[in-house]
Amino acid sequence: MTVEILIFGAGAVGAFYGSRLANAPDTQVSVVCRSNYKAVKANGFTVKSPQYGDYTWSPTRTFASPEDARKSKTKWDYIVVSTKALPDVSDDSQQLEGLVGDGTGIVLIQNGLGVEGPYNRRFPKATVLSAVTVISAAQPEHGLIQHNRWTRINVGPYLPEQGVEDEKAMACNKKFVELLNAGGVKDASAYSHAKLQLVRWHKIAINAAFNPSSVLSGGSSNATMALDSEAQLHIKGVMDEVLTTGPKVLNTQFPKEFATSEAILRSTQKNTSGSRPSMWADWESGKRMELEVILGNPIRIAREKGFEMPRLQSLYALLKLAQENRDKGNERSKL
Ligand SMILES: NC(=O)c1ccc[n+]([C@@H]2O[C@H](COP(=O)([O-])OP(=O)(O)OC[C@H]3O[C@@H](n4cnc5c(N)ncnc54)[C@H](OP(=O)(O)O)[C@@H]3O)[C@@H](O)[C@H]2O)c1
Ligand SMILES: *[C@@H]1O[C@H](CO)[C@@H](O)[C@H](O)[C@H]1NC(C)=O
Ligand SMILES: *[C@@H]1O[C@H](CO)[C@@H](O)[C@H](O)[C@H]1NC(C)=O
Repeated sequence: MTVEILIFGAGAVGAFYGSRLANAPDTQVSVVCRSNYKAVKANGFTVKSPQYGDYTWSPTRTFASPEDARKSKTKWDYIVVSTKALPDVSDDSQQLEGLVGDGTGIVLIQNGLGVEGPYNRRFPKATVLSAVTVISAAQPEHGLIQHNRWTRINVGPYLPEQGVEDEKAMACNKKFVELLNAGGVKDASAYSHAKLQLVRWHKIAINAAFNPSSVLSGGSSNATMALDSEAQLHIKGVMDEVLTTGPKVLNTQFPKEFATSEAILRSTQKNTSGSRPSMWADWESGKRMELEVILGNPIRIAREKGFEMPRLQSLYALLKLAQENRDKGNERSKL
């Protein structure tokens, strides 16, 4: 039986992994596009990768909207959601109404915490898979996917009820990782719910420290923040706050192999190539930043369990207002 996969949000991450999944045997991968629809419909995607070479990929079906996808009446085995996670702008789970069946696995390849809740609540019979990827990719022009490096992706079933072992969800998870492996993504791994949530917390320790700080400091590079004597105390302070709170919230320790804040700082100090978090690029180009899932949700999730993260809270409060002021300024300048 052919596996039918739909990519919702065919940008850098979605189109890259879609193009890999399309190489798995008996697999058809379709996409829902938005601003890149015309380019992709006409020419497919061009992927440039130091690891996989340069190639073009034409999705099985290219849809202009979720409505368009609903009309195809396809039974989707997997729907990969790889939009930017912006719950303050839109509830993307709503867009999947009429596309999700009981047997569909909804795979969220997005940064941040708390991205699964809206999908899990809206589609209680479907399986939600939570994925964290370490990759560097971009879409510099419509339909052109530049893969720079890394393809690590960890996927775990989202089973928030303590102690639940769900055979169907675990099988759905394992199958998705096998498809990635078959598509040439060797470092895709299947994790448990608990371990995947630890990975999410660990990743936001890094993102919550470096990304907002780059924006609030006017565009510092990763290495600058890790080397500056005051900034490094701040960066380490934020990482430690998240790394000590996460295990308390989850009631589990980080596995030994997860990098400590010192190790992260040291490796960032070594790379003086000038690279900056992508949140800086979003800020500069006037786009909304993933503030809610990287800062707001972790703060709220911890607070619900009685833990405060004051460094994170300050970053969140200031950056949220900075974004509002920027957007108001942009509105004014249009008058
Ligand atoms: N890029 C990386 O290297 C990287 C690394 C690790 C994690 N991540 C995470 O992966 C996620 C995706 O990031 P990305 O870099 O791939 O972002 P991206 O390039 O901006 O891709 C998101 C895509 O989703 C589309 N989209 C958004 N809402 C849509 C809707 N309602 N209907 C149809 N399409 C819609 C966007 O279309 P428009 O062009 O019209 O906006 C865009 O093509 C984020 O959570 C990010 O933090 C990214
Ligand atoms: C440092 O970052 C640059 C650009 O972001 C990248 O090309 C390079 O591979 C990185 N080096 C290491 C040692 O990670
Ligand atoms: C630094 O910059 C890159 C952009 O190349 C980003 O994706 C990366 O995760 C950043 N953070 C750290 C701590 O290296």
